[in-house]
Amino acid sequence: MKLCMIGTGYVGLVSGACFSDLGNSVVCVDIDKNKINQLKQGIIPIYEPGLEEIVKKNIKNKRLSFSFDFDKSIKDSDIIFICVGTPKKNNGNADLTQVYHVAKKLSKLINKYKIIVTKSTVPVTTGDKIQTILSKKNKDNKYSIVSNPEFLREGEAIRDFIYPDRIVIGSNDVKANRIMNNLYAPLISKGAQYFHTSRRAAELIKYSSNAFLATKITFINEIANLCEKIGINIEDISIGMGLDKRIGGRFLRAGPGYGGSCFPKDTKAIISTANFFKTNLSLVKSVVKSNDNRSKLLLLRVYKILNNRIKNKNITFLGVTFKANTDDMRDSSSIKMIPALSKKGAKIKYFDPTGFKNEFSKIKNVKYCNSIKNSLDKADLVIIHTEWNDFKSINFKNFAKNKKFIIYDMRNIYSPSKIKKQGFKYFSVGR
Ligand code: UDX
Repeated sequence: MKLCMIGTGYVGLVSGACFSDLGNSVVCVDIDKNKINQLKQGIIPIYEPGLEEIVKKNIKNKRLSFSFDFDKSIKDSDIIFICVGTPKKNNGNADLTQVYHVAKKLSKLINKYKIIVTKSTVPVTTGDKIQTILSKKNKDNKYSIVSNPEFLREGEAIRDFIYPDRIVIGSNDVKANRIMNNLYAPLISKGAQYFHTSRRAAELIKYSSNAFLATKITFINEIANLCEKIGINIEDISIGMGLDKRIGGRFLRAGPGYGGSCFPKDTKAIISTANFFKTNLSLVKSVVKSNDNRSKLLLLRVYKILNNRIKNKNITFLGVTFKANTDDMRDSSSIKMIPALSKKGAKIKYFDPTGFKNEFSKIKNVKYCNSIKNSLDKADLVIIHTEWNDFKSINFKNFAKNKKFIIYDMRNIYSPSKIKKQGFKYFSVGR
């Protein structure tokens, strides 16, 4: 199969590389010439474990290529994946400018039967609108529009692509479904569930899944608040609940709230869609509100831990990304917490395995350190903000020779009894 991925962001690049690894011929196109030139040399613009190896391997065996020649790449391909961004507009809606721009360009380039697949996360009925755009220039229907939402987690994207729980294909015609089933056959034969449904249902499955997962996280975070008041360990609750197969144990880790490129954006977008169709998603609205308040709630705990004396306190953040194994800062709770602490006069140091972050470059008294050791120097309070493996076996005693700092573990990565035994004051979430 000849595939074309439009957009070499997270989704397009990972999917394109993995499809080429499955034996397809894949061209990835982008309007960013600089990025394409870098990718041609195997330089990867995002941090994703395992991606570089797959890209380099498939460039070498000539199954994967990069181009900014949009027209030629489209004309040569059988299946075209739209993987452009759908960022959040101020009113919460998904901004579909890039998707429709691509659709208009595509409408002039259909020279033989093609399948056009939306992988970008798009609100329900977007496929219908793409169809309308294409039909204006293509009366003979030599194309099918399919929805194939991605469920790739950052940091786990290669694994999620190769071993997906499910592949969702939304198409309203048999031919497109047969071809998509063939394309995914190597994954289906390894046990992935293939679910064919209507295009509109596939679009909504994506948003509903993310809204549900965000709800699960928010639920456990609120229960963690209750546990803190009663003196119960939230982890016992997560385990005890998760053993019920109807609930399942995943996405029940309490922490600083969900962030990243998807959950915050998609929860707001599904609310917008529901509003448009005059339906009240009151539960998802509460989830958004609760998660938006979460950083404030954890900040209040920081103030309490420091007896409300924040001025000139040395606070160290270990990890600042929204989760481990990514360099992504989008909607990370650290973006709210660090400026708020700086405003109160704290001196902040941070270390993150993915390096310096521009987001803090203009914030007063915030310093990037290039090692855990440097970041812990003279600390009064150490906040474990992101659950990187690099932090899981730190021997804090080695770094606190003269004075003992307080530790606030926002990801519950340490055993409270072990840390306390070493003489540190230790706080965590919901326990
Ligand atoms: C998510 C979806 O999982 C993926 O299917 C979708 O396609 C894109 O969005 P991602 O944003 O990479 O993936 O991260 P994910 O691992 O889902 O975590 C999202 C947020 O929830 C992070 O901030 C994470 O720290 C938080 N989280 C996750 C928790 O706080 N507790 C948990 O138990 C799980």
